[in-house]
Amino acid sequence: MAKRIDGKAIAEKVKAEVAKEVAALRERGIQTMLAVILVGEDPASQVYVRNKKRACEALGILSEEILLPADTTQETLLSCVQTLNDRADVNGILCQLPLPRHLDETAVINAISPEKDVDAFHPQNVGGILIGNGRFLPCTPAGVIRLLDESGIEIAGKRCVVIGRSNIVGKPLSMLLLRRDGTVTICHSKTQNLPEICRTADILVAAVGRPRFVTADFVKPGAVVIDVGVNRPADGPLCGDVDFAAVEPIAGAITPVPGGVGPMTIAMLMQNTLTAAKLQNGLSV
Ligand code: GUN
Repeated sequence: MAKRIDGKAIAEKVKAEVAKEVAALRERGIQTMLAVILVGEDPASQVYVRNKKRACEALGILSEEILLPADTTQETLLSCVQTLNDRADVNGILCQLPLPRHLDETAVINAISPEKDVDAFHPQNVGGILIGNGRFLPCTPAGVIRLLDESGIEIAGKRCVVIGRSNIVGKPLSMLLLRRDGTVTICHSKTQNLPEICRTADILVAAVGRPRFVTADFVKPGAVVIDVGVNRPADGPLCGDVDFAAVEPIAGAITPVPGGVGPMTIAMLMQNTLTAAKLQNGLSV
């Protein structure tokens, strides 16, 4: 039976470290601050934004929510981003994705100042991830790496298979695993013999967005299985991309959903916001 990786506990540890540093900055007269833009009323996005706000409050980070109606124009949104770029009291800016379809996500990401881009979505920061000198690490991928580190799981030399090639998770996580000397394979919807490739993995990451997609035949006995999925199927409770009940008896370690990767994403966002505050005040990170 797999060891369950407790993302909630590890996230609490990260947040406690961040809170301590945020308090130390405040002693020096620096108040860390995150601005979150939410366009429209997507229920899942509303939950994510509320959770981010709560985490800020718990850690002594000031937060400001900018709630814009679903019919906001591109021009208004870009001007909102520009105002936040220009405000000296704002350290981090996050625009919750996805945006309503009429808005150009890429243009909005590109408009956020790279120094305040706590999601690490701006091309300049994405380049930094690729080269290995990034100031911000993308939250979910960085959370996965921290989960592995805190669980004593070696990455160097291991076969890592990532299912999913999104800009938010699959691609940047593959780069972080590579940077840690993993041997990385990226799989996607056109990959042939997917279960067979996945069975070669010492570390298997599922970031597909399909409920219980990864079944027992994808998993080598003893493998580490990281489930990035957050699915809300109409017929049941929140679940991941991994069929947990089927995979847990085979895997060596596994993250549950909820309580695995999810809490780490927010913890790493808090860490990036702290990093932004330090950088903007000329402090080393
Ligand atoms: N939507 C889903 N995940 C994320 C994330 O990490 N950042 C932002 N900005 N939007 C998201």
